[in-house]
Amino acid sequence: MENQANKLQELVSSASINNENTHTKFIAITSGKGGVGKSTVSANMANILANNGYKVALFDADIGLANLDVILNVRIEKNILHVLKGECSLSDIIVQVKKNLILIPGESGDEILKYSEQFLYERFFEETKVLNDLDFMIIDTGAGIGEHIQLFLEAADEVIVVTVPDPAAITDAYATIKITSKSQSNIHLILNMTNSEREAQLIFDKINKVAMANIGGGLKLNLIGKLPQDKLIAKSIKQRTLFTNDAPNSLASLDMKRIVNNLVYKLERKVLKNDTGKSFGSFFKRIIEQF
Ligand SMILES: Nc1ncnc2c1ncn2[C@@H]1O[C@H](COP(=O)(O)OP(=O)(O)O)[C@@H](O)[C@H]1O
Ligand SMILES: [Mg+2]
Repeated sequence: MENQANKLQELVSSASINNENTHTKFIAITSGKGGVGKSTVSANMANILANNGYKVALFDADIGLANLDVILNVRIEKNILHVLKGECSLSDIIVQVKKNLILIPGESGDEILKYSEQFLYERFFEETKVLNDLDFMIIDTGAGIGEHIQLFLEAADEVIVVTVPDPAAITDAYATIKITSKSQSNIHLILNMTNSEREAQLIFDKINKVAMANIGGGLKLNLIGKLPQDKLIAKSIKQRTLFTNDAPNSLASLDMKRIVNNLVYKLERKVLKNDTGKSFGSFFKRIIEQF
């Protein structure tokens, strides 16, 4: 126990050095059920932000079938675990996807915390300084309500829950909202694979009604947008391209741009209120501190 406490103290002091003048916003994309479009949303959201001149990193914590490197059609060898263990440097694992967009190959929260005793924190936090000029870090979390996924959600500035209209996915999305509401009072929802704006709004209203009745506690749910069920999206994923590049003027891309606009608008208003200033190092510190 004492060892752990010492380690945390070390962590806090080294991370605070790396906590100056950063403005990175951490956006966690999560879901209750898998296969609802988290990675699709993460990659295309990052792409639109990068196209608009923001400096963006994608952090892949959803290690499963379609990892972000597959979706983005880039090759990765090592990931954040190797960096935390001191086996390579952060810059060795970062993949430049395009101008303004990098991929940080991640690991699931489970894996990261499994090895946390072995990490060389000081060196890690020193290295994360190269990321201090990022505007956005989009974290593609795994699905479900596992406690290690929750650590990412707790540490994020904004949490976006992705769901599809089917009842099982909605039930799981609700479970995620409920558990996340313990640490976040604002939670955004994206309704993916919907047929219309109206369908999205109706489903949202239902979820919101149940949440307000059963969770309460100042929780604010926000429908940040929807995406259509679209062959274009499925096709782009198959050919390892991004639909927001392949068909930038399609309805799906316009919906995606609207989601990004809503997010940026929300964040800009927040920044005016209080600029907390966080770095990738301090983000990790918040995750590991919970352990
Ligand atoms: N709006 C959509 N329309 C059609 N297919 C979609 C849409 N969103 C996602 N998909 C498809 O669903 C599958 C799962 O998406 P993915 O982003 O990998 O989900 P997750 O990351 O949540 O597991 C992918 O094959 C993708 O092509
Ligand atoms: Mg995924």
